[in-house]
Amino acid sequence: MFITFEGGEGSGKTTLIKAVNTYLKEKGVKTYVTREPGGSLIAEQIRHIILDNKNKDLSDKTEALLFAASRTQHLEEIIIPKLNEGYTVLCDRYLDSSLAYQGYARGLGIDVVLKFNHYALECLPTYTIYIDSDPKKGLERALSRGGANRLDNESLEFHNRVREGYLLLLEKFPKRIIKIDGDCNLDALIERTLKKIKELI
Ligand code: TYD
Repeated sequence: MFITFEGGEGSGKTTLIKAVNTYLKEKGVKTYVTREPGGSLIAEQIRHIILDNKNKDLSDKTEALLFAASRTQHLEEIIIPKLNEGYTVLCDRYLDSSLAYQGYARGLGIDVVLKFNHYALECLPTYTIYIDSDPKKGLERALSRGGANRLDNESLEFHNRVREGYLLLLEKFPKRIIKIDGDCNLDALIERTLKKIKELI
């Protein structure tokens, strides 16, 4: 299985993935945890270009293409081989991030960004866990950690659009994307997600 995790800034994805990974391992599932942008040496170098606050002039189209390039490298080098070796791959962000952030929030168009990502379309996640939470609270949490990147530093309006984008994707891919209400404490979020995962597997 290929399971991706999506959500806005500070939505608790990273902690959640750790908990899901521990649960699956206890059940004897062979797991591999990875993230986007990045996940391989070359893809991590592309990540650096995209997230660097110094790159203020990066155009929206180039940003979308770089996310797609990083994803293609990650797919070919890591995700596809791991799936072929029988691992269940857990990925922190994937295609839907590009659709919500670049396609919807940046305004490039979800269909245009889907075209940029045609290689990822050949390897769609089995399930995508989307944590739906208040962008204002999440952004405050993310910014309070320090080290905000170029995307974190976008306006609250941008992050509100990201959430709208995800909600549109839920309508577009209702079987694949599972929405979890994330406006709760982390323990409750983990409990809700594990309940869903148990139903799915
Ligand atoms: P990161 O620090 O990994 O964010 P998070 O902890 O919230 O997952 O930074 C990745 C940023 O890149 C995040 O703001 C989401 C954004 N992003 C896109 O805009 N498009 C994409 O395709 C991906 C994978 C991420």
